[in-house]
Amino acid sequence: MHLLPPILHKSLANLSNRYGPLFYFYIGSKPCLLVSSHELAKEALFDNSTCFLNRPKLANLDYLTYGSADMAMAPYTPLWKFMRKLSMTQLLGTRALDRLNPLRREEIKRFIKILQEKAEAGEAVDIGAELVRLTNNITLRMLLSRYEDEEADQLQKLIAEMNGIVTKVNLSDYFWFLKSFGLLGFRKRLKDVRDRFDILMDKFILEHKEARKKDDGRIKDVLDILIDISEDEDAEMKLTNDNIKGLISNYLTGGTDSFPLMICWGLAELINHPEVMKKAQNEIDSVVGRNRILEESDVENLPYLKAIVKETLRLHPGGPLVVRESTEDCTIGGYDIPGGTTLFVNVWALGKDPKQWENPLEFKPERFLSNEWRQGKQQLLDLRGHNFNLLPFGSGRRSCPGASLALAVVPAVLGIVIQCFDWKVDDKNGRVTMEEKPGIALLRAHPTVCRPDARLSPFPSV
Ligand code: HEM
Repeated sequence: MHLLPPILHKSLANLSNRYGPLFYFYIGSKPCLLVSSHELAKEALFDNSTCFLNRPKLANLDYLTYGSADMAMAPYTPLWKFMRKLSMTQLLGTRALDRLNPLRREEIKRFIKILQEKAEAGEAVDIGAELVRLTNNITLRMLLSRYEDEEADQLQKLIAEMNGIVTKVNLSDYFWFLKSFGLLGFRKRLKDVRDRFDILMDKFILEHKEARKKDDGRIKDVLDILIDISEDEDAEMKLTNDNIKGLISNYLTGGTDSFPLMICWGLAELINHPEVMKKAQNEIDSVVGRNRILEESDVENLPYLKAIVKETLRLHPGGPLVVRESTEDCTIGGYDIPGGTTLFVNVWALGKDPKQWENPLEFKPERFLSNEWRQGKQQLLDLRGHNFNLLPFGSGRRSCPGASLALAVVPAVLGIVIQCFDWKVDDKNGRVTMEEKPGIALLRAHPTVCRPDARLSPFPSV
């Protein structure tokens, strides 16, 4: 345990560099397996896909998710399969995303206006904070039809607290003899956060049930659909209130931090690589023009922008470690691995493996426009967990259900941010720092504060 300094994926990468890509170790009393090569990642997540289908049970997450009644922490059971099917079809599937596109568009317009005002006033902006506000608004409207009111505000603060708690490891999960001590004041804090979340969610559920009686013609949000399913006598499985709250908390925690982070890492790389920024702006100008603002549907015709997003996810995967638990004994790399082992796949290290990537630390989106990526089957499969060098959304049955939403929103917003503005930082080198800070997500150590300068004149109406 003393070998594990604060940035876990980096420490684990160091261990792999020292001891090889397959490393079996203990954290406290828990057996763990660390995998850091694409061959072994494939062996664990694909060849042995039926073995690593659970998540390790962590007390803090278990409590926050109503005893793993959600999707992210639930064991692999028929109920999990049902929630997954719902997520991939009715809640986060293509049709649901298309239905909610106008709402995303509205929020993006509001976001551009804020940046425009900053540009006119010549002020710097903490772009990360503005992106958090944008994605919070989008997520809360899609899920609960709430918008910048007092309760939406409370919920956003609660989600930030939950994300904070989730990133802390409770030592009693790993050291059984500490279980009864309520370490780090966790229990009290956990109870307080979950109680407050519970009260708000009960209120939202009640309000939605009342509003549905009136049939006021508003677009159904995710909570409406979940309530419909929970009341449907013919539904394949019964969803309880705990399942509904667990799912909403998954979508809130999954959706709010990940987008701003990805877009910030991407923008920071572009500011530090002005030639890439210029090339992307030229592509957008020639495909979209300078008289209207880029839309999600344009992204399909912007291969260089898509390559920038892939390169960002390769170097800065939002979830740097895919963490699972084995349900049965299996063999990986010729070694017998017992059931109940926690698996860490170091996605961050896979994206930087010099045996797989030329000049792996260089930000070079062009690598994704090579013939291998353009023509080979790689192009279709590259981010969906079939290419084991690049697993930003994990792989297989437990891969990220929010990937389609992320791949609609992240390139569109990043594209808009560089289509509408040039960006400068006040640092004397004109560079943004790329330091990471500890956490289970790939957090930026410092806020990304920079100055927007409008590059479209006249500015298209928003
Ligand atoms: C750039 C954005 C995102 C990244 C990089 C990301 C990454 C990941 C990764 C690496 C996993 C683990 C996959 C595995 O075990 O194979 C995951 C799981 C998950 N993600 Fe995301 N995610 C993103 C956005 C979202 C969004 C927008 C949502 C919801 C609206 C979401 C909801 C979830 C859920 C519920 C799981 C657990 C799935 C399960 O265990 O069945 N994520 N995500």
